[in-house]
Amino acid sequence: MFIFFCLSLWSGVFGGDAVQSESVMEGESVTLQTDVNTVKTDDLIQWRFGNNKDILIAQINRQSGKRKFYDVKFKGRLQLDDQTGSLTITDTRTTDSGLYEVKNNNNKQTLNTFNLTVYARLSAPVISHSSLNSSSSEQNCSLLCSAVNVGNVSLSWYKGHSLLSNISASDLSISLSLPLDIECLDDSYSCVINNPIRNQTTQLNTQLCKPCAEDHIHSCGFTEAVIRLALSALVGVAAVAVLVYDIRSRNLQQKRQQMSPSSSD
Ligand SMILES: *[C@@H]1O[C@H](CO)[C@@H](O)[C@H](O)[C@H]1NC(C)=O
Ligand SMILES: *[C@@H]1O[C@H](CO)[C@@H](O)[C@H](O)[C@H]1NC(C)=O
Ligand SMILES: *[C@@H]1O[C@H](CO)[C@@H](O)[C@H](O)[C@H]1NC(C)=O
Ligand SMILES: *[C@@H]1O[C@H](CO)[C@@H](O)[C@H](O)[C@H]1NC(C)=O
Ligand SMILES: *[C@@H]1O[C@H](CO)[C@@H](O)[C@H](O)[C@H]1NC(C)=O
Ligand SMILES: *[C@@H]1O[C@H](CO)[C@@H](O)[C@H](O)[C@H]1NC(C)=O
Repeated sequence: MFIFFCLSLWSGVFGGDAVQSESVMEGESVTLQTDVNTVKTDDLIQWRFGNNKDILIAQINRQSGKRKFYDVKFKGRLQLDDQTGSLTITDTRTTDSGLYEVKNNNNKQTLNTFNLTVYARLSAPVISHSSLNSSSSEQNCSLLCSAVNVGNVSLSWYKGHSLLSNISASDLSISLSLPLDIECLDDSYSCVINNPIRNQTTQLNTQLCKPCAEDHIHSCGFTEAVIRLALSALVGVAAVAVLVYDIRSRNLQQKRQQMSPSSSD
């Protein structure tokens, strides 16, 4: 009992001070949960937003169930749970990022503080030929993986599952690009864009870089050519044999039908 009391006191003192981090992708919904156990039936619950947590955006009177929404910035995108007072933001925007505080306005007690980060949508990175290296591009496949309008993202080149190189951006609205030089396509290569919660992958295709195996076929030896020819001939002969057998058995069937008297006679 005593321990329970201490724990309640502890969470009462420190629970409201701890900032809870929440993150979501732009366009998705997010719910900032209040602690059900700390919300009383007669509470007037208020949500505030901003660096100073001073913009009143929503309020609910738990007794009457009356809700009010204030800030035009969130117009039509806020919902309040009448049981818990939890706040749901729908169709999130990057500008919704920031601090949110929920208070019981009767005793001015802070119930929870959230630090919400809304990450900008990721579009798949674009792989193109690098124009920087015209001299080496004849022998090598010189590529550039690029992303535009990036937020806090990183770009990485992967060969199969292993990381070849990566680069990070920490500013909004700059473009990011990462080069890759390979001789030929000897494996699956991909460029991945990552933010802290999601990623998007673009696969390097054979239109941009020749597969290494292609060279093999071009320079294949005499014996390989002979084997290929022999195999093709064998397949051809087999096909003809099947065809001839099929025609013969059909002819035989027709003859039998002609010879036997029809059932109606
Ligand atoms: C909120 O989160 C962002 C991104 O994780 C971070 O840069 C910022 O410092 C945090 N702010 C506070 C007050 O914790
Ligand atoms: C261009 O090719 C040179 C070698 O010819 C190489 O040192 C350099 O890293 C290449 N640059 C890019 C961007 O691929
Ligand atoms: C990007 O990260 C920097 C710190 O690394 C932070 O100050 C900034 O708010 C972040 N921007 C976004 C859109 O998350
Ligand atoms: C590159 O990736 C490694 C491993 O994931 C990571 O530790 C490092 O911070 C990344 N560097 C950049 C510049 O993104
Ligand atoms: C071609 O790419 C390889 C790495 O795959 C590199 O070692 C070599 O220097 C490149 N050659 C040229 C001419 O850029
Ligand atoms: C991309 O995200 C998926 C989950 O959505 C994860 O399984 C995968 O490891 C991530 N890939 C990279 C390269 O971060």
